[in-house]
Amino acid sequence: MQSSFKIAISGKGGVGKTTVCAVWAQLLAQAGLDVLAIDADSDPNLASALGVETDKCPEPLIKAKDLIRERTGAEPGSIGQFFKMNPYVSDLPEKYSYLVNGVKLLVLGAIKNAGAGCACPESAFLKALLTHSMLHRDEVILVDLPAGVEFLGRACVQGVDGLVIVVEPGMRSIDTARHIASMGKNMGISRVGAFLNKITDEEQIGEIEFQLGDIVVLGSFGYNPAIQAADLKRTSVMEGSSELVEALGRAKEKMIEVFFGGVGETV
Ligand SMILES: Nc1ncnc2c1ncn2[C@@H]1O[C@H](COP(=O)(O)OP(=O)(O)OP(=O)(O)O)[C@@H](O)[C@H]1O
Ligand SMILES: [Mg+2]
Repeated sequence: MQSSFKIAISGKGGVGKTTVCAVWAQLLAQAGLDVLAIDADSDPNLASALGVETDKCPEPLIKAKDLIRERTGAEPGSIGQFFKMNPYVSDLPEKYSYLVNGVKLLVLGAIKNAGAGCACPESAFLKALLTHSMLHRDEVILVDLPAGVEFLGRACVQGVDGLVIVVEPGMRSIDTARHIASMGKNMGISRVGAFLNKITDEEQIGEIEFQLGDIVVLGSFGYNPAIQAADLKRTSVMEGSSELVEALGRAKEKMIEVFFGGVGETV
């Protein structure tokens, strides 16, 4: 059984990245795998999608100034100081992850508007933590990313087994998907798949598939207001729509088959 793989989930804003990440994390945990879900979005809400109550949502580690200062040797928010580019972080996923529905959740947050080369203690800290997790942890990791993979950095990308891009009907989302896929490929991620979400007309599936070129379509799901209603009530995405959970279950199987040659069919 494929019991350790690392998947980055990306796509344009609002397409359903967090929804896909939260459902897959719970399905894989239900199948008995160790799952670490990492929220690396600058506006983190994976906790809420996993069903964590608002007052219990863990603070993003990007805000843990004392910890960042302790590990990097520099004041967060500062520039032009010396700091450790490779701070010690290997104890942090265990210490700071929050267990919810069998999934370990690690909320990193991201540096708003920072480019790949941002040289600040927070950036070095988050990159080290993400890179350590992707390269050295022996479990399933799903990373909920903002649009793009530049945040991952070159070292981290070596640990990424596959990139899944969520796409909704619309050229902006398709263009973003193509851009993310080519960025990922340039950085060395060869397995790239797409999940088509919020489809309002079956004909859109073939059209988007055509537009996506060599990005493999792993599955699709229609627009369903019940999912948004569940989000409004802050309930877990698993409770929004059983059809969505089923569709994502099939897409997860296809992802494992396409990316890993079917070794995970028992997952
Ligand atoms: N198939 C669907 N039908 C209707 N609403 C959906 C569907 N999938 C997701 N949603 C809703 O769309 C909104 C955005 O979804 P989600 O937060 O998963 O997207 P995201 O890509 O992570 O967004 P962001 O870029 O803000 O992080 C949420 O309110 C979610 O409940
Ligand atoms: Mg999100």
